Amino acid sequence: QLRKEATGALEEMFVAAKKEDTPLAAVSGYRSYQTQKILYNKYVQRDGQEAADRYSARPGHSEHMTGLSMDIAGYDGKCAASDCFHDTKEAKWLKENAHKFGFILRYPPGKEEITGYKHESWHFRYVGKPLAKFIYEKDITLEEYYQEHVKK
Ligand code: DAL
Ligand code: ZN
Repeated sequence: QLRKEATGALEEMFVAAKKEDTPLAAVSGYRSYQTQKILYNKYVQRDGQEAADRYSARPGHSEHMTGLSMDIAGYDGKCAASDCFHDTKEAKWLKENAHKFGFILRYPPGKEEITGYKHESWHFRYVGKPLAKFIYEKDITLEEYYQEHVKK
């Protein structure tokens, strides 16, 4: 469900999490344009476009299409891709440890204005270990990284 380099990193992370009594499960990785379109349209039907745009990417705009992003839940699947995942032990473990494996919490709390999306404690994006560590330590988003360190 992910590109090769990200798959290896994800497996490494799942092994480490399990050793620390926090077994994880992969919920949603690569999505095609078509799959994202179906998902997005379903959310628009349910919540209206304005609300859906705060948590679901329009087709062609989802990171899931890159094969570098994974939605992660606890092994029991409880609260998978839902706000109630925020307060779980698994979410806390991921927040503090994902960078060690090259993943970043892509849509952190309080950064909706910058990322364009509400907090998603389950959505992780592979960027490689050096950049993940940098972003974690600086407590910034990928957008801020590009703005401040790449764009100029
Ligand atoms: N939920 C994220 C923003 C996506 O749809 O890609
Ligand atoms: Zn996601």
